[in-house]
Formats: sequence, C-alpha cells, structure tokens
Amino acid sequence: MIPFGDPSASYKAHKEELDKAIHRVLDSGWYVLGKEVNAFEEEFASFHGDNLHAVGVANGTDAIALCLRSLELELGDEVITPSHTAVATISGIEQAGCSPVFADIDPISRCISPQSIEDRIGPKTRAIIPVHIYGQAAEMHKILDIGKTHKLEIIEDCSQAHGAEINGQKVGTFANLSAFSCYPTKNLGGTGDGGVILCRSEEFAEKIKSFRQYGWNEQRESIIPGFNSRLDEIQAAILRVKLKYLSDDNAKRRAIALRYNTAFENLPLTLPSLPANELHAMHLYVIEFNQRQELMEYLRSQQIGASLHYPKAVHQQTAYANIIRGRNDLRVTNKFYQKNLTLPIYPELSNDGVEHIISTVKKWFRKNN
Ligand SMILES: Cc1ncc(COP(=O)(O)O)c(C=O)c1O
Repeated sequence: MIPFGDPSASYKAHKEELDKAIHRVLDSGWYVLGKEVNAFEEEFASFHGDNLHAVGVANGTDAIALCLRSLELELGDEVITPSHTAVATISGIEQAGCSPVFADIDPISRCISPQSIEDRIGPKTRAIIPVHIYGQAAEMHKILDIGKTHKLEIIEDCSQAHGAEINGQKVGTFANLSAFSCYPTKNLGGTGDGGVILCRSEEFAEKIKSFRQYGWNEQRESIIPGFNSRLDEIQAAILRVKLKYLSDDNAKRRAIALRYNTAFENLPLTLPSLPANELHAMHLYVIEFNQRQELMEYLRSQQIGASLHYPKAVHQQTAYANIIRGRNDLRVTNKFYQKNLTLPIYPELSNDGVEHIISTVKKWFRKNN
C-alpha cells in the first residue's frame, strides 16, 4: 500500500544523521529542555528570519493554548477560526479557556475567508487563528488588516505549513505569535510529539518559556500558574536534522503536486491551486470530486492509500455539534466536506509511485465515464 504520508521514509532518508543525533542525546544524560532544545529554537527562529524567537513545546495543541494564554485573554473570550481544520486547533483554543467561533473558508484556498471573519466579529471577539491548511497560506495581508481595524490578536496555525511562503515571506512571520506542530506526519516532524511557537517579541518568548514549565522563574519559583509543556531533547535533536532538509523536501512535495495537477488537468476534479507568488508547503494533496467515495474505494483496492482530511469538519463532530457560534453559516465548508479526497504525497514518494497513482486515477475515469 502506498500510504498518504510516510514518516518512516523520512527516517530512512536521513538514518545515519538521525541515529547520530539520537545517540548524542542518549550519551549526554540530559533529556528534557537542554542544549538541543536551545539550539533547535535558535535554528528554527533564524530559518524564519531575523529578530525572531522560538520556544519548543510538547505539541502543536499546547502551542496554540500557550500563545492564547500569553495574551492574557479572559475566560470565554472568543477566537475566530475555521471549522475546516484539525480538531486540535479547537482543543488548543478551549484549553486556554477561550470560546472558538467558526468562520467559513474560501473555496479556492480552502483557508479561512476574510469576509466570513468580518461577519463573525462580535463584542467578545479577541483573536483570530487562521490555519494554513494543507500547506496553503491563508490570506494573511487581509487578515492582518482586519486584526488592525478591530484590534484583534492574530495567531497563525502553521502546523501544516512549515516553510510555506507568500511573496518570499514565510508563514509564521506575519503575526506576532505563531504555533507549529512537529508531530511525526508533519512537514517538519519528529518521532514523537513536539511543537514550537514563533514570536516577534523576546518578552513573549520568555513568558511562554515560563508557562511551559509550571510558570517558573530562573530560581524555579512559580510566578504565574503554568503548564508542563516541555520539548524533549531527542525530538529537538531530530528536528534540527530535519530542519536542514525542510526546504528541499517541500520542493519535492510541490514537484509531485505539479505532476498530479498537470496529469489531472482534463479530469472533472477540483485540484489544489498553486499560486505563482506563493510557496505551497503541500502537506496534503487534496482534490474535490462528487464521486469521491467510489474513487477512494477503487484507489484503495489498487494499494493506494487515498483518505479523507478530514472525514468531518469540526462543527460536524459529536463533541462540537450544535455548540459553537458560527456553525450554521458554513456553506463552503459543508460543500467541501462532501467532496474532499486526499492522495498520497511525501518527499520520498518514488517516481513509480507517482506514475502508479496518476495512471490508476485515469483508469478509474476511463472505466466510469
Ligand atoms: C492544523 C493543525 N493545528 C494544530 C495541530 C496540533 O498539533 P498536535 O497534534 O501536535 O497537538 C495539528 C496537528 O494535528 C494541525 O494539523
């Protein structure tokens, strides 16, 4: 079976370097928040630009919660975000004591629609969390303008878009605070849970560093109520190796996406857009098709791991059905979830694998049209 993503292929591609990094940590005897985490934070920040600060945390959900906590929002303050996201975005908002509000998406980018954000703003709105879904950058310039006009904080959820760019500027550097997951399947993924926050201000970075470890100051006294959301040294050492290959890996993902887009051009599918002024991180390659269930079953029968990201939008899931403001006006999201279908994409996917996927999709259309 060709999986839709393959973290083990990434390990095998850099096995020697990764094994060395892991053993360096094992030999050091220091396993949580140490030299490797510090070095990863510096390297991750400078990968994104000058004068930025990174803070390693336990996972991407905590990264969102810690960003919100650092803004000192009040219980029940509203945060506008899409329902078309990993449920983790919503968990992070709730973990911080805030209330998510759902905005609709743009049909082309599949990211949060700026117009829909404006429609949702109310007296309790304090923040917006755009999600760069599937590796596609959200419309950050418009969202920053909305934030400025309405005095709202912006946090970018970059968990699916490490290294994506708009006009040469990396996602995660548009807002003052940005959250990244480094879960194994991500474009920058470890071999366990991990996350990182990018901040413009050193003061916020220090505050988040205190939050991630019981609210401690340097004397290990808790000066604010905090969390335990530490990044471990093995994950940091692995992420340092993977960060060196991130841009090349993203380019390989884009090359595969381009081959798919070219091959499927004349089929009745809606394909991901690859805007010329952007670098898409191509975390997932998602098409839209009315008969997606039939196509998915056929691809699976041919050993191709087609799948759904996600089977349901967050507002359609039991835990969140009927409770979140904005859920009744998500026309584009609802339509998208009847048609979405994910095809395999990862940097190590072989030429033969890509050809097999392309020819199998085409074969289905020959048989069914
Ligand atoms: C869009 C998005 N936000 C947040 C997260 C949360 O990451 P984690 O699973 O590391 O908590 C994920 C990962 O699943 C994600 O895809």
